[in-house]
Amino acid sequence: MSYIEIKNINKSHYNKRNKKRAPDDSTKIGFIQVLDNIDLSFEEGEMVCILGPSGCGKSTLLNIIAGFDTAYDGEVIINDKKVKHASSNHIFVFQQNGLLPWMTVWENMELGLRNIQDTEVKNERIMEYIELVELNGFEDHLPSSLSGGMQRRAELARALAVKPDILYLDEPFTGLDYLTHLKIREEVVNIHEYIGKTMIMVTHFIEDALIMADRIIILSERPGRVLMTRKLDFPRPRNINKDRGLSELRDEIFLMLGVSYVA
Ligand SMILES: Nc1ncnc2c1ncn2[C@@H]1O[C@H](COP(=O)(O)OP(=O)(O)OP(=O)(O)O)[C@@H](O)[C@H]1O
Ligand SMILES: [Mg+2]
Repeated sequence: MSYIEIKNINKSHYNKRNKKRAPDDSTKIGFIQVLDNIDLSFEEGEMVCILGPSGCGKSTLLNIIAGFDTAYDGEVIINDKKVKHASSNHIFVFQQNGLLPWMTVWENMELGLRNIQDTEVKNERIMEYIELVELNGFEDHLPSSLSGGMQRRAELARALAVKPDILYLDEPFTGLDYLTHLKIREEVVNIHEYIGKTMIMVTHFIEDALIMADRIIILSERPGRVLMTRKLDFPRPRNINKDRGLSELRDEIFLMLGVSYVA
């Protein structure tokens, strides 16, 4: 059995616009279908990237797997247990800012490590990850006094410091400048290699998925269905421009997502 199993997930959101769009509109009145029969499985330690058009239900799916959203049809099973709520071993990096604005960087990180009793161990862990994302000197800053990119880095440090069994990442590089994006992406790849934990990442960036993933899943437009799932056996470190197989796959994915002029 796989580590994470997702069986027949269907999800609708309540739609305040209580009318059919057309006479043959099959949407249940009052509801908008977001996910259509999603069946997936994830291996332990796997890094999977989920791609798909905006609004197709990627964040919804990730929230369901992580146990934040329980109003759906179907089943999510992790390690043989049905997911009924979020777990402190499974950390989520949100699409929007997830740092607590009234707490400093240090306090935000402490919060994630509240289960560690030994203060020295806890402090060492916080410093290790602050250094990893190069935020030394900003420990006592509130999020509002950091740039957008620094806030994302602090958030990633907070998530990684917990050494979670599963890391859910919803567009983790949003708001980072190009170079920081590349740097942090490399860092996440290295960390994944080093800690070997399961990571499920939602992204808009096809290049990120190609560089990072062990497997790519592509969802269709809403209601999201699985269009493609592809294992990536390309050697690492990966370079799309130097690896013909990777650049061909990139073109194939662009075409699948309706962008033909790039390919
Ligand atoms: N709380 C909600 N109430 C009603 N509809 C919602 C709610 N949350 C999301 N939706 C709808 O569900 C659909 C999927 O939303 P979701 O946030 O999962 O998309 P997404 O694929 O993550 O998009 P993006 O790439 O833009 O982040 C959207 O059409 C959105 O309008
Ligand atoms: Mg989203």
